[in-house]
Amino acid sequence: MTVWDLDRDQWWPNHIIESAWLGHTPFAAWLIPNLEPKVIVELGTHQAVSYMAFCQANAKITDPARCFAVDTWQGDDHAGKYDDSVFHNVQKLNERYEQFSTLLRCRFDEALNQFEDGTVDLLHIDGLHTYEAVSQDFYSWLPKMSDRGVVLFHDTEVRDRDFGVWRLWEELIKQYPSFSFQHGFGLGVLVVGRDAPENILKVCQPNEASDFAKDFRSLFSRYGNEVIEHYQLLHEAEEKKSLSGRWKHAMKTTWRSYVPISIRKTLKTFR
Ligand SMILES: C[S@@+](CC[C@H](N)C(=O)[O-])C[C@H]1O[C@@H](n2cnc3c(N)ncnc32)[C@H](O)[C@@H]1O
Repeated sequence: MTVWDLDRDQWWPNHIIESAWLGHTPFAAWLIPNLEPKVIVELGTHQAVSYMAFCQANAKITDPARCFAVDTWQGDDHAGKYDDSVFHNVQKLNERYEQFSTLLRCRFDEALNQFEDGTVDLLHIDGLHTYEAVSQDFYSWLPKMSDRGVVLFHDTEVRDRDFGVWRLWEELIKQYPSFSFQHGFGLGVLVVGRDAPENILKVCQPNEASDFAKDFRSLFSRYGNEVIEHYQLLHEAEEKKSLSGRWKHAMKTTWRSYVPISIRKTLKTFR
C-alpha cells in the first residue's frame, strides 16, 4: 500500500469530537497498515481522538496489533482537569475494539513494567507537553521500542506557554530518521528502530524540501483540514441547536414572569 492508494473510506475517522489531534487522524489511517505494528501504546488519550483513529485503522489490518491507551484520565496542566465521565465515555468507545484494545488507567511510568523491552512498535507521546515531561516520557519508554519502532510526538509546532516538545524534537531529529507535519499543531514521526518498513523510511528519510516530502505533507494536511472543517460544521450546528433551545426556554420563562397569573389562566382556557 502506498500513500496514493488511500481513498476517503480508509482515512475518514469515525470518532470526530473536539481535539487538537483531529487533523492527524488521516495519517493514522496510513501509518498503521504501512507499519503493521504488533503492539501500539499511546501515552495520553483523553477523549480518545488519536487512540480511536489508531484502533479504527488497526481493526482493518490482517493481523491487528494489541493496543494500549495509558492515561490517568484526570487531566493535566495543559489539557485541564476533568471528571470521570471522560473515562466512562472512552470505555464505551473502546467496547467496539476490546478484542485487541486495553485501557490502562494509571500514570505513564506505572505502565512501564507491563511491557517487555523491545516489544512496542508504535508509541504515541501526547501527555503533558513541557520539555521535562516529554523527555521523561520518551527516554523512559525508549527501551521498550522494537526494531521496527516508531515514536509519534504531538504538538511539535507549539512554542508558546511552557510547551517544549519542539525543543526535544530538534534534538532527536539529529539522531534518528524523522518526518514532521506542520498542520494540527505539528506531529513528529521518529524512527527509532533499526529495521523499520521501507514505506516508513521512505517518508522519514527524504530531504525535507523534496517534492515527495512536500506532496506527502500537503496531502495529509488537506485530508486533516477536511476532518477539522467537518467538526467545525457539526459544532456550529450543535451550538445553533442549543442556542435556539435556550432562546425558546428563555422566552417561555420570561413570558411567565411578566404576565400576571390571572391573565395566564385566562389565556390557557383559549388554547
Ligand atoms: C493532550 S491530552 C491527550 C489528547 C489525545 N491524544 C487526543 O487525541 O485528543 C493529554 C492527556 O495525558 C494525560 N496525562 C498527562 N500526563 C500523564 C501521566 N504522567 N500519566 C498518565 N496520564 C497523563 C492527561 O490526563 C490527558 O488526558
